[in-house]
Amino acid sequence: MATVQKPNTSKGTRSGFSSRLGFIAAAAGSAVGLGNIWRFPAETGANGGAAFLVIYLLCTVLIGFPIMVGEITLGRRAQSDPFGAYSKVGKGGWGIVGLLGVLCGIMILSFYNVVAGWAFGYFLQISFGDLLAQPDFGAYFGQFAAGWYENHIFWYALAFMAITAFVVLKGIKDGIETIAKVLMPALFLLLVGLIIYALTLDGAGDGLAYYLLPDFSKVTPKTFYTAMGQAFFSLSLGMGALITYGSYISKKENIISSAAIVTIADISVAFLAGLLIFPLVFSQGQAPSGGPGLVFVALPGIFQSMGPILGRIVGGGFFLLLCVAALTSTISLLEVPASHLIDERKVPRKFAVIGLSVVIFILGIPSMLSAGGSEFFTQMLVYENGSDKSFLDLINDVFSDTFLPLGGLILSLFLAYRWNLADMAKEIEQGNEGYIGSALNKYLDISIRFICPIILGGITLVTILEKFLSIQIFG
Ligand code: TRP
Repeated sequence: MATVQKPNTSKGTRSGFSSRLGFIAAAAGSAVGLGNIWRFPAETGANGGAAFLVIYLLCTVLIGFPIMVGEITLGRRAQSDPFGAYSKVGKGGWGIVGLLGVLCGIMILSFYNVVAGWAFGYFLQISFGDLLAQPDFGAYFGQFAAGWYENHIFWYALAFMAITAFVVLKGIKDGIETIAKVLMPALFLLLVGLIIYALTLDGAGDGLAYYLLPDFSKVTPKTFYTAMGQAFFSLSLGMGALITYGSYISKKENIISSAAIVTIADISVAFLAGLLIFPLVFSQGQAPSGGPGLVFVALPGIFQSMGPILGRIVGGGFFLLLCVAALTSTISLLEVPASHLIDERKVPRKFAVIGLSVVIFILGIPSMLSAGGSEFFTQMLVYENGSDKSFLDLINDVFSDTFLPLGGLILSLFLAYRWNLADMAKEIEQGNEGYIGSALNKYLDISIRFICPIILGGITLVTILEKFLSIQIFG
């Protein structure tokens, strides 16, 4: 949902968001997406429930929020894309960090678009097909996702990529912004309504207990790095998306309160999604550790129970709104590599957007084949204990769970030791008088100077050792 206008082609004037609400809407639109409704419940379910929720919330508030303020502030100061921002403010070879962000944007979008394609397919199959008449939604999802070509996922994903490209190409203003401003609150209300309904079902209480009563004995190092990855993914941090958006805002904007609103919106939607999914999962006797299919397996049951007509309307409506939420996120993922090519490499906007979309779509094909379509991509890695990882899982591990927190680590080191926290505070002071010297200023300084580097550094190290080198550190 964006009001980002394309930077003026005549050099020097970088036009911005039309209003304060415009920036918040765009940044919240980037944050709220499949990460909240699809990825968050799946990660929570795979990592033991409530304890994961608590750690995820701590990661978001203690680390995510300061990093978000840092990205927006750096973007507004530098007035350019992540590559330009790092090279301008940092001098020397810092631009390479921005390139890492460009790479992350491309790779994350490649699989994100496939999952958006599933959501689009579910919208069509619920509204106009016979999805709700199926006897077993687990089996249905399995064969749906495996039939990447027979079940048209190829075309759904292609359509989604094309719509994203179209919106970014047109400069993202008018249409989508208005649509999203109406539809995102609608998604929120629909979630609340469905939760109330779900809580009345038999077995819902077990789901609530699983989601809300932490059992910290289940916590392992993996819980921490997965929660941190989820926090970064959900807030759209660590690859410069908010550096890019920050570069479009005016000096009158209050960065702190904008970042706070975006963070709260993002947490709220994720929390509500969990509050819906876990009662459903337990009342339907499914396993919470259902993996990437969790939402697609748990949700249809509630729509089915509404009867054929209402079910089609509410269920179709839900997945359509989910697609809109995904669209405002894919826009921001595409905007980073696109603005890099446009600002730094002087590629005309049209070629940049279309070229990138084609490349990203093709890079997404192995992810499309990761849900049973091809044995090779479905079981890229098979471990001794019999568990396996698909291509999509691997891309997710490397780019979402490792590179995004790594991007946050580098950003915090950059802000504290290469740029300068006093300068950063001066930038924030514009639009937020009285910030300098305030308690929040002191907290953010400490967080960026010490807490973020130590925690993110530790997490990155553990991720690399455990995940990629299979060295078990904590027993
Ligand atoms: N935050 C989005 C979601 O939760 C996904 C996303 C959009 C993203 N832009 C990003 C993730 C930039 C990381 C970086 O669905």
